[in-house]
Amino acid sequence: MIEKLNKNEYTTVLELAKKLNQKFSIDSISPNDQIIVYKENNDVVAFLQFSINFEVLDIINLYVNEVYRNKQIASLMLEYLNNNYLFEKIMLEVRTSNFEAINFYKFHGFKLVRTIKNYYSNGESAYSLERKKMKDVFILGIETSCDETSISIVKNGCTEIYTSTNTQIPTHKKYGGVVPELASRMHTENILTVFEDCMMNSKLTMDDIDAIAVTSNPGLLGSLIVGVEFAKTLSFVYDKPLISVNHLMGHIYANNLTNKINFPTLGLIVSGGHTQIIKMEKDYDFQILGETLDDAIGECYDKVARVLNLPYPGGPNVDSYARRGKPVYDMPKCMDDDSLNFSFSGLKSFIINFANTKKMKGEEINKYDLAASFQHSAVEEVIRKVSLAVKQEKINNLIIAGGVSANSYLREKLSTSLPNVNLSVPKLSHCTDNGAMIAAAAYPLYLNKSFSDLTLNPGK
Ligand code: KG4
Ligand code: ZN
Repeated sequence: MIEKLNKNEYTTVLELAKKLNQKFSIDSISPNDQIIVYKENNDVVAFLQFSINFEVLDIINLYVNEVYRNKQIASLMLEYLNNNYLFEKIMLEVRTSNFEAINFYKFHGFKLVRTIKNYYSNGESAYSLERKKMKDVFILGIETSCDETSISIVKNGCTEIYTSTNTQIPTHKKYGGVVPELASRMHTENILTVFEDCMMNSKLTMDDIDAIAVTSNPGLLGSLIVGVEFAKTLSFVYDKPLISVNHLMGHIYANNLTNKINFPTLGLIVSGGHTQIIKMEKDYDFQILGETLDDAIGECYDKVARVLNLPYPGGPNVDSYARRGKPVYDMPKCMDDDSLNFSFSGLKSFIINFANTKKMKGEEINKYDLAASFQHSAVEEVIRKVSLAVKQEKINNLIIAGGVSANSYLREKLSTSLPNVNLSVPKLSHCTDNGAMIAAAAYPLYLNKSFSDLTLNPGK
């Protein structure tokens, strides 16, 4: 996590700075200087000292603890400067022998402006490097994979400018679940209004938009088609690059809208269709460590909601019923093994049979207690497997993603049961489907120029 340093915290950083560079001293911080630090587990592992004069940001020192090199920390700090300070140009001097630093700055678009002879006290020369401030990137994200028509504009993959969403929940509620045909019709009816509302409230025009991103997979085919065709039309009419985004990646990158993802990281994906533990070494580097062998956890929440006669959408209702009950009913073990896979079908069948048996016998069940018992059992299993993954992979960053990541008990248990893990949780409004997460997930693809053409079809 990157933080601005207050002047009263300078001494702590100086200790670190001395460890990183013996020559560093308090005298080298002038009153005009500012410092940002990168913290991991509350330890400062990198710091950047700079000053801004006449719209020129001058980097004076940038140090990253050796153990933490090659983790994009320095890149994140440069990005932080770009996003958080007003300046036109950024410049610095680097020793002509420091190839590692020279390559790093070259990679980030810095150009050599001159060589300064005898710049350092030992007579070594310096290269003076500079770069213009990176232009802000505004991406319009479109999400129509299920029952939300949502369009959002996100700046630089992390700042949500405005999101406009039309939820179809009140319509589907009458049927107890999403009716695909109705969903696609409603997306068609609403998408233009949602787009106009987003543009109007963002106070931006299409001239400001750098790319159009859209969920192309997975999802309900008819619903995806509406979003993809709309995105292709905008891309063609306004001549903007088109970016195809996987819906799951959207859920993962929703984290960037709150805290920038710290790589390497473990990820817990819990939604209506997925229950996975993944590992990411860097952007879009995705390895599945374990997943459900049968039902997804969200699917179970929805089934339990039906058994309890709770309206659609089931998950949030089971969550709130559970908060009013106690886990008094004995539940079967989900899976008695040490793999990172899950199985929830046994738990689901148990609840169905339990409720049916009680009904046949004419016995009352306490809905709150049954919801709490199910939730306790399912969440405990998730925590057990995530703890195993943390131990096994020796990675202590964790992000959560997907609709079930909105669950209050899961959030509470993750933060209390894994005290040594840096847990990043998306904002509640970013857990359910939304256009902002799609725009956030499109940002690394934009930087990589991974664009699609007008032959894009859903399912790709
Ligand atoms: O990620 P999502 O919006 O859609 C998919 O891509 O699957 O997840 C929807 C799932 C549904 O099963 C819903 O019941 C569940 O997330 N869900 C919850 C909560 N909010 C949504 N489950 C438990 N507790 C919640 N608070
Ligand atoms: Zn989703």
